[in-house]
Amino acid sequence: MSGDLAARKLVPALYRLHLDHQLHPETQIIGYARSDYDDAAIREKMEEALKDYVDDFDAEAWGSLKSRIYYVQGPYDEAKGYKKLSKKLDELKLENRAFYTATPPQAYTGIVKCMAAAGLNSSQGWTRVIIEKPFGTDLESAKQLNDEVLDVFEESQVYRIDHYLAKETAQNISALRFANTLFEPIWSNRYIDHVQITMSEPMGMEGRGGFYEEAGVIRDVFQNHLLQLLALVAMEPPTRYDAGSVRSEKVKVFEATTCLGLKSAVLGQYVAGNGLSAYRDEEGVAKNSRQATYAAVTLEVCNWRWTGVPFYLRSGKALNMKATEIVLKFKQQPHIPFDIAKPPADRLVLRVVPNEGISFRFNAKQPGQGVDLKRASMNFYYDEAFNTRAPDAYETLILDAMRGDATLFMRADEVEAQWRIVDPLLNEWESAKTPPVFYEAGSWGPKEADELLEDAGRYWHRPGGNA
Ligand code: BG6
Repeated sequence: MSGDLAARKLVPALYRLHLDHQLHPETQIIGYARSDYDDAAIREKMEEALKDYVDDFDAEAWGSLKSRIYYVQGPYDEAKGYKKLSKKLDELKLENRAFYTATPPQAYTGIVKCMAAAGLNSSQGWTRVIIEKPFGTDLESAKQLNDEVLDVFEESQVYRIDHYLAKETAQNISALRFANTLFEPIWSNRYIDHVQITMSEPMGMEGRGGFYEEAGVIRDVFQNHLLQLLALVAMEPPTRYDAGSVRSEKVKVFEATTCLGLKSAVLGQYVAGNGLSAYRDEEGVAKNSRQATYAAVTLEVCNWRWTGVPFYLRSGKALNMKATEIVLKFKQQPHIPFDIAKPPADRLVLRVVPNEGISFRFNAKQPGQGVDLKRASMNFYYDEAFNTRAPDAYETLILDAMRGDATLFMRADEVEAQWRIVDPLLNEWESAKTPPVFYEAGSWGPKEADELLEDAGRYWHRPGGNA
């Protein structure tokens, strides 16, 4: 409650939910952390965060939420702090309880154990625990953490976060596929040549060098966000859009997915450029670090629908722009009846961020005599189509957890299945000892990543524009 995630995401999300009258009027918020605050100090700190991170700060609306915010100070790994918290919850007569834990992953074990020791794993009403990513640091630690959490809570009480799932545009992948008849019949290896998923970020470490030095890009975003996007693209239609069906379909995709390893991957690290200093010069980073801040990897989903269609995933820090996009590149036309060279194949682009929307790029006849073709696009933009504010992912997640809907959260077997995919790559990379390839901050990443696709006769789609 006193950290960066709280200031940037959680507090603004709670405030927005309050403004939209989505929070139950009796909702009370209690911050729990080691920092030495009291109720007044945490309220001040939250107010400062709101002023920094929301552009429509309304002092009156905030006032009515502010008075329902409290603070309990205590350690993560001693039951006595949680007993104080328990007392506060009883004092406030809070029977339905959602605990949001966002600490370094090593702290989760101690937290859940101490919560149980203080009797916080059940209450007169419902009790739920929301756990931030990263969930473990590899398959083994994720399994152990699952065991420890499930020793104390039922799976139905556990809400493991991957905030990408709650992005409107990520949820819309299912709407596009399962609420329209056009796409599903062509959504397979019969018509699709390959899939690209790109998540590029312009910023460097922004004070997270110490965390990143341990995590690297694979643990930070591939194991979770990128694999979840892959699952949303590749999964079979669920029978119902609920936590049971959706998550079971995603687990089946993960079970069918393999990462082709270092021979089909490029791991890179940024050097200074575009006003950013080199990764190795960031605070908390070793001068000879070989941690990857960029990766482009090839995955296969070996099932009836997808065998033969490579999924290329790439992500990096200090890249040219903020963009997350999924590109489905269709197969080359089998035959062209016109007397011209074969035109490019069609592609469908799902823009998660920015310019949220969907574009289809195809060939059209250029006006004039004879047949000549030109590339054309059909574009759908969220902000043009819907005149309404899209909730931030954290608003959706907090509300869903309070309503007891776990569809957009990860199940125990799901998170383990995701680690099972990336673990071999991590092991290979960590034992290889070869240096990463270097790329300049502000660029589109290492040229080796372009070559990875060029070698297969393909190329990366440049994100950010139309199709
Ligand atoms: C987090 C990662 O999970 O997602 C960050 O730890 C990353 O490194 C962030 O910057 C990106 O989220 P968003 O919503 O800004 O795309």
